[in-house]
Amino acid sequence: MRIDIITVLPELLKSPFEASILKRAIEADLVEVHFHNLRDYTTDNYKTIDDYQFGGGAGMVMLIEPIDKCISKLKSQRHYDEVIYMTPDGETLNQGIANTLSLKENIIILCGHYKGVDQRVRDMFVTKEISIGDYVLSGGELGAAVLCDAVIRLIPGVLGNETSALTDSFQDNLLAPPIYTRPRDYNGHKVPEVLFSGNFPEIEKWREEQAYKRTKERRPDLLDE
Ligand code: ADE
Repeated sequence: MRIDIITVLPELLKSPFEASILKRAIEADLVEVHFHNLRDYTTDNYKTIDDYQFGGGAGMVMLIEPIDKCISKLKSQRHYDEVIYMTPDGETLNQGIANTLSLKENIIILCGHYKGVDQRVRDMFVTKEISIGDYVLSGGELGAAVLCDAVIRLIPGVLGNETSALTDSFQDNLLAPPIYTRPRDYNGHKVPEVLFSGNFPEIEKWREEQAYKRTKERRPDLLDE
């Protein structure tokens, strides 16, 4: 998979890709991540990427021209499956969207800033708009990092143990069950006995019940879906 991220703040975005699972995925060539600084696609001395809104109103709007130049250059080099715009009014990110995107070959992620991009960018180039939740960030960069993390860990081969993504919360619309490790008894707080039974069907049944119970208590909306 190849991900091209268009941003005015590449430095804000780089560090999540320089540690742990994302770093290893890049080193293992399971994913390529490229950053494009929008200011490199401007033509004036001030490297202008935004301007005032037509019709008045507070906040600057990102110009279509540098974005068009950057996206057109990328598209002239390869086919892209999606051009994603990070925005609070997009579809809220969930595990299903992450699963679907993890199967794509090439995607572009456009990070918004200020009030956002000129509507014509969305109309002309964007194929999918994603929000990471009902709150407003200063820019799309942190949202893009969240999206990339959720997607990249699902690419086959990225997680050491292939089954570990399958047992995450939200796969099958259930939250994950409680998990335990050493010690067996911590100041009287004991690990459930069933986990030592060696009876794997019984353990699996317990985990399923716990996952259901937790989902019912915390996220009953998931059970309605
Ligand atoms: N940009 C600003 N707020 C955002 C959000 N909640 N999700 C994605 N991108 C954003």
